Amino acid sequence: MIKLGVNIDHVATIRQARKTFEPDPVTAASLATLGGADIITVHLREDRRHIQDRDVRLLKEMVFTKLNLEMSIAQEIVDIALEIKPEQVTLVPEKRHEVTTEGGLDVVSQKKILIDVVKRLTDANIVVSLFIDPEEHQISASRDVGAQYIELHTGNYANAADDASMHRMIEKLQAGMKTALKLGLRVNAGHGLTYHNIGLLVESIDVEELHIGHSIISRAVFVGIQKAVSEMKELIFKHYLQKRQNTQ
Ligand code: PXP
Repeated sequence: MIKLGVNIDHVATIRQARKTFEPDPVTAASLATLGGADIITVHLREDRRHIQDRDVRLLKEMVFTKLNLEMSIAQEIVDIALEIKPEQVTLVPEKRHEVTTEGGLDVVSQKKILIDVVKRLTDANIVVSLFIDPEEHQISASRDVGAQYIELHTGNYANAADDASMHRMIEKLQAGMKTALKLGLRVNAGHGLTYHNIGLLVESIDVEELHIGHSIISRAVFVGIQKAVSEMKELIFKHYLQKRQNTQ
């Protein structure tokens, strides 16, 4: 069964709007887990716009499923990861003025530094995943730098303007998945996924983990985070079963 990673950054975004103590992303992590989240994800950004160091430390103490830390390859952040030791790290590109992670990591042009960062994290028993666009050269470079997982960027699928381009993006993700598996990489996916576009993706590609943030937290504002997560889990399960029936 596909695992669901819930990104709780935006709970911290609301807290940081007032720089107060509420809502606490640590509480959100507990409730998301009760709702069925298999993984809790946070992005410790260099500018600390939402998640704070204290959150990552507390989450490491209380998350009993899996903590996935999204982060850049900045030295300061790598050192924090090596100290806190989340179960998994997903390396992402980071630009100060972006609203969210815009594109995949350019592994090809940063091979040298990535070999070093991936080795340091792997030596500390942290699983390393690279968030990349579904491009063949980025996938094979991810293998070359020693990553165990890639997370395929689903943003172009999510933002597709019409059905034809949505299906073209699905074909791209399927091709990327095939290339990655052939190279011995394990594959996750995420970004821009919602209650509306999750079905086709689940029925089209067989990833291990789906990482979803904004849509779940948006729904949580109205129905509560536990329910928002369980509704997403049910949708994923429904489409996963549908796919299995279609292939029998
Ligand atoms: N995966 C990665 C690597 C991300 O950077 C993000 C955004 O923080 C997500 C998944 C979740 O994206 P969204 O908030 O659009 O669901």
